[in-house]
Amino acid sequence: MRDFINKIRDCQDKNELENIRISILGKKGELAKAFADMKNLSGDQKKERAKELNELKDIFTVELEKRESELSEIELDNKMLSEKIDISLLSPKVEIGGYHPVVETMNRIISYFNNMNFSIEEGNMVEDDWHNFEALNLPKSHPARDMQDTFYFGDGRLLRTHTSPVQIRTMMREKPPIRMIAPGTVFRRDFDLTHTPMFHQVEGLVIENGDKVSFANLKFILEDFLKYMFGDVKVRFRPSFFPFTEPSAEADISCLFCGGNGCRVCSHTGWLEVLGCGMVDPNVFKSVNYENVSGYAFGLGVERFAMLIHRVPDLRSMFEGDLRLLEQFRV
Ligand code: DAH
Repeated sequence: MRDFINKIRDCQDKNELENIRISILGKKGELAKAFADMKNLSGDQKKERAKELNELKDIFTVELEKRESELSEIELDNKMLSEKIDISLLSPKVEIGGYHPVVETMNRIISYFNNMNFSIEEGNMVEDDWHNFEALNLPKSHPARDMQDTFYFGDGRLLRTHTSPVQIRTMMREKPPIRMIAPGTVFRRDFDLTHTPMFHQVEGLVIENGDKVSFANLKFILEDFLKYMFGDVKVRFRPSFFPFTEPSAEADISCLFCGGNGCRVCSHTGWLEVLGCGMVDPNVFKSVNYENVSGYAFGLGVERFAMLIHRVPDLRSMFEGDLRLLEQFRV
């Protein structure tokens, strides 16, 4: 029986300990056998033996419980040890990302017009001739179509060359008053220092019933917007032409590089052209069956804004994904 005590104390495993418990205290265990063997003993001897066996039983029970709790403790220690975090270990370097300058600029533009209570519309990148050209007062023979090198699918569909068709879609879906911008991707067959086949524009449109909207409203909001984007610049409006606006204008800001004195970037004019705008042409209202309304529209290129704000000289570098450039825009 002494042997069992050593066995219990040496036991390293809980299952093993349970087997030992059964072999001693179980129904067919050593103690049970010893009790059964007592039947051959005389009265006094029996008493003596029974006392001895009961004492042994208590001893085994205590020893088993003690070992059990020791093994539990060891188990817990091992578990804690294996799950320990080594805080002195060097972690892999985590790179902080940032917005691409085009996305960041787009977000800034959206946030300005959002604050001015304009809704954000999306439209479709795959358009049809009517929405992209015809409804915007660009009939099939119109020479201004040449300005836009279009990707055609050959089945009447095309990749939109500007975000202006979103004006048409919004006017057809809604009723005045309308105050919307349409930020989005546009496509043209063109690729050089200042053109990429895919780029981004933001279109704006404001329409009210009656003659409430004037060129003064357009000037006010665009001037305020350009100062929000470029800081303390001078803004001027220059007469221009777009088929979908009449009168049309282009907005210039005083050159960010030379402060208006004239340099290479502004071709020594002191001014940088940044957006097109105008009063919505009556023919555009006709194509969406609007009557007795007035409105203005504008459109701008997001890459051009981003390049001017961040002084990036080559448009193509915006799309090369070169980390040496992008890392400079980390926040
Ligand atoms: N759609 C013109 C373009 O892609 C930009 C533009 C100019 C939009 C004048 C307008 C506008 O709404 O009034 O070059």
